[in-house]
Amino acid sequence: MMPAPPLGLVAELTHRCPLRCPYCSNPLELVRAGQELDTSTWRRVFDEAAALGVLQLHLSGGEPTVRNDLPALLRHAVGAGLYTNLITSGVLLDREAIGDLAAAGLDHVQLSFQDIDPAEADRIGGYAGGHDKKRAVARWVREAGLALTLNFVVHRQNLERLPEMIAFGADSGAGRIEIAHVQYHGWAFENRSALLPSREQLEIATAEVDAARTRLNGRPVIDYVVPDYYAARPKACMGGWGQRLLIVTPAGKILPCHAAESLPGLVFPRVQDASLEATWQHSDAFNRFRSTEWMREPCRSCDHREEDWGGCRCQAMALAGDAAEADPICGLSPFHERVAAALMESHASAAPFIYRGVTGRKKLPAIAVRANR
Ligand code: SF4
Ligand code: FES
Repeated sequence: MMPAPPLGLVAELTHRCPLRCPYCSNPLELVRAGQELDTSTWRRVFDEAAALGVLQLHLSGGEPTVRNDLPALLRHAVGAGLYTNLITSGVLLDREAIGDLAAAGLDHVQLSFQDIDPAEADRIGGYAGGHDKKRAVARWVREAGLALTLNFVVHRQNLERLPEMIAFGADSGAGRIEIAHVQYHGWAFENRSALLPSREQLEIATAEVDAARTRLNGRPVIDYVVPDYYAARPKACMGGWGQRLLIVTPAGKILPCHAAESLPGLVFPRVQDASLEATWQHSDAFNRFRSTEWMREPCRSCDHREEDWGGCRCQAMALAGDAAEADPICGLSPFHERVAAALMESHASAAPFIYRGVTGRKKLPAIAVRANR
């Protein structure tokens, strides 16, 4: 049976980015500017996506606004009938550029924040002045009439300021606030010990979100999910492998998820050589972990197998060393104790952030870890 069409395409226009967030989900090896797909190839990819049945286009990176052809790409995507969402740090935008994007037909902006305290935000993102710029960008986006989501990435070093983040979001005119716990893929896995929150931090944060949801009565909507390492069961990563989303990397590889290149033994077709449709429907890379046939025990006979689809394949690879295992977040996984071990290791450590550097890794000092707010 043919798989249903994907709902969304994530177009990673570039890996270039002025920020250096220690939880960056991009792979350890970044695509260089000279290897990026050109404008006409991206246009063709958008046409193929629309023909395949994709409804939503997420323009992402790296930082997608480094691409000078972004307005042209947007116009083409809108012409193809796609709903367009720009996922941006905002630091390279000004009022005029936002006006150009709105004029090109952009529907929605997802603006990321590293913290609510300016000095801490700039320290975490490794970009001086970034936070103040983001606040201005949020205002300009609303002035331009665009729908806005604020995305706060939270972890052990900023979770205590969650109430201020929510208060800012509620005043900003955003329709949605995402409180996104770090996912431990890519560069974030390198920084896991510096980022994992304590259970006490998590319980306080969860209660704060519940209270804010009641107080704000759905305006804005607050998205919040308990982070994997504390969850009772894994999430349906990407809505299930090869079921809802596909990703095209800056160099043209077609992936079922951001971290898929971390899985050995999979060959990912490139848009230069294969169509989105053929890759979605017939490639081994998309079919390998689709649905439930690939599952071993305990997933194979589990009642939840068509709810979480066995969790995250990349997390299974990272924690269990085998992408075909149940996600070790699951209490039934034989590797589940590795999650507890990672939590214990992080609680015992005050590890500094490891930042991506031009010539290699660069360490910046950690702030003190406070158990109480
Ligand atoms: Fe999900 Fe597999 Fe755990 Fe069942 S055994 S809850 S399908 S990860
Ligand atoms: Fe790859 Fe979850 S990040 S399946």
